[in-house]
Amino acid sequence: MADDYKELISGMMGKKRYIHSCNVADMCVKLAEIHGEDTEKAYIAGILHDIRKEIDDETLKKEIELSGYYIDPVELASRKTWHGIAAAYYVRDVLGITDTDILNAIRFHTVGRADMSKLEKIVYLGDLVSAERNYPDVEKYRAYALENLDNGMYKALEWLIPDFVGSGRMIPVSTVEAYNCYLKAAKKKK
Ligand SMILES: [Fe+2]
Ligand SMILES: [Fe+2]
Repeated sequence: MADDYKELISGMMGKKRYIHSCNVADMCVKLAEIHGEDTEKAYIAGILHDIRKEIDDETLKKEIELSGYYIDPVELASRKTWHGIAAAYYVRDVLGITDTDILNAIRFHTVGRADMSKLEKIVYLGDLVSAERNYPDVEKYRAYALENLDNGMYKALEWLIPDFVGSGRMIPVSTVEAYNCYLKAAKKKK
């Protein structure tokens, strides 16, 4: 099953994104092993998370509409985040995957949200620290994710939120809620 999805996505995206998707799936499996999550679910969510990333705007808009998900206006205004919603729709209605946790992990991999499930955090962070990522400090964020998922989310959002502000972009509501949630968790731990 998992290999079928690998083959499926290879025909739907360029080589670079295909390698990224394979690396994310592998990182998700690693995180699942360490943090006690179902490795097959982690692999499936990871390999499929960007399945709608190279799709034209009109199709994406249609799929978002068909998805039935609530989408806040800020998220709706940002094309960058559309592919997560469209991917959840595609995986559910075209591929027939019914596991809500897999669908949510794919839907929220671009924006995050408060109180994410273990699988949702694994896919969010797996996407951020996959093997081919080479931004400065990637090793640091990878280590945070491998050590503790909640703290990994906090550290990731503590870094990403100022990036929104610095580049003059609006912040999706669920990303702000995710930040507040994991900041609170980090403070509680101290
Ligand atoms: Fe993505
Ligand atoms: Fe990705």
